[in-house]
Amino acid sequence: MRTPKHSALSGVPVLGDLGDVASKRVLVRTDFNVPLEQGPGGPVVADDFRIRAAIGTLRWLQDRGAAVTCCSHLGRPDGAVDERWSMAPVADRLEELCPGVELLDNLRFDPGEKANSPALVDRLVEGFDAYVNEAFGVAHRAHASVVGPPERLPSAAGLRLAKEVEVLDGLLGSPKRPFVVVLGGAKVRDKLGVLRALAAKADVVAVGGAMAFTFLTALGCDVGGSIVDLDHVEECRRLIAMKKTKLMLPLDVVALEPGGRGLGAPPSVVGDVADTKVLGAHIPDGWQGLDIGPETAAAFADVIAGAGTVFWNGPLGAFEDDRFAAGTAAVARAVAACPGCTVVGGGDSVRAIDQLGLADEIDFVSTGGGASLSLLEHGDLPALAALRRAPNAPGA
Ligand code: 3PG
Repeated sequence: MRTPKHSALSGVPVLGDLGDVASKRVLVRTDFNVPLEQGPGGPVVADDFRIRAAIGTLRWLQDRGAAVTCCSHLGRPDGAVDERWSMAPVADRLEELCPGVELLDNLRFDPGEKANSPALVDRLVEGFDAYVNEAFGVAHRAHASVVGPPERLPSAAGLRLAKEVEVLDGLLGSPKRPFVVVLGGAKVRDKLGVLRALAAKADVVAVGGAMAFTFLTALGCDVGGSIVDLDHVEECRRLIAMKKTKLMLPLDVVALEPGGRGLGAPPSVVGDVADTKVLGAHIPDGWQGLDIGPETAAAFADVIAGAGTVFWNGPLGAFEDDRFAAGTAAVARAVAACPGCTVVGGGDSVRAIDQLGLADEIDFVSTGGGASLSLLEHGDLPALAALRRAPNAPGA
């Protein structure tokens, strides 16, 4: 079935558009940029969510007789071989999950990957008959392995990539209302574009995380020593002035007192004196807001409970530190309990959902953080545009 006209998947070739893949050599761009941890014999994959997400496509190809080679980046090595970012631990896990698939070494060991070098594209596609993009997490990057191969080979979107785009694109179409967006995270400048795009579609946008302090500054609140991006206060003020969507900002915050134990620093052996306090949205000098407070968490949870659709991206506080984890946990539980359609986009919010054991309660957990935000902001992605230009694309 072809997708409706407005869909970001329109014109994108799917696996069936590759024709007969028996005995063909297929290069699959995956996003195996996964967290590693130290195992007894060296680094091992700490979370294989992204690897498991690609298995459906790899088996689809293998079941039809294709020889499958995956390629991926891991971490951010600077265009040179760096053994800390070797794909070996990923290859071990991949062999357990889907035996018989080859995996090339880290694409970002070559400076041509990020520079989208045609020479690297030539080397990558040499000897292959077809290309599949199953790397949603990196679909917003115009890197060589993402946008180059579709110009040279018959190509297709992988099953998971297509599903990601269908679900996220659906949020921009006709989401079940009320449509509630919850955005957190540290960097307001990375989220303003998506916030603007979603504010035009959503009924409620709830903002937490460090980025909320730039909004509170725009409202004229004192935010003490909290992180503020002064270059974007004006833009936040404009967003606050948009009356169409209800914008919810923190009513209270959990703040760290001046000189309190730093984020992630181990507690003292004799036990710490309490160095945090719940404060209203006016924070005294030297105090740093690091989580939404209980009143805000309850207000966010309340609006989530009544939502027809929820999209959540970004933690509401510094949840890696127990003192500032309650707001994110409360929102995660509210999203998990929401009877409407729930979508969680990438990165730290997915980690929070996992840590709380709530992943099964969410309708769709995206494999991409930046990619999901970019798709929601622009309605398209460089990887999709490249696939539309493939020689076998529908209508090509
Ligand atoms: C991710 O982890 O979000 C993707 O793998 C993209 O990684 P990047 O931000 O290093 O490009």
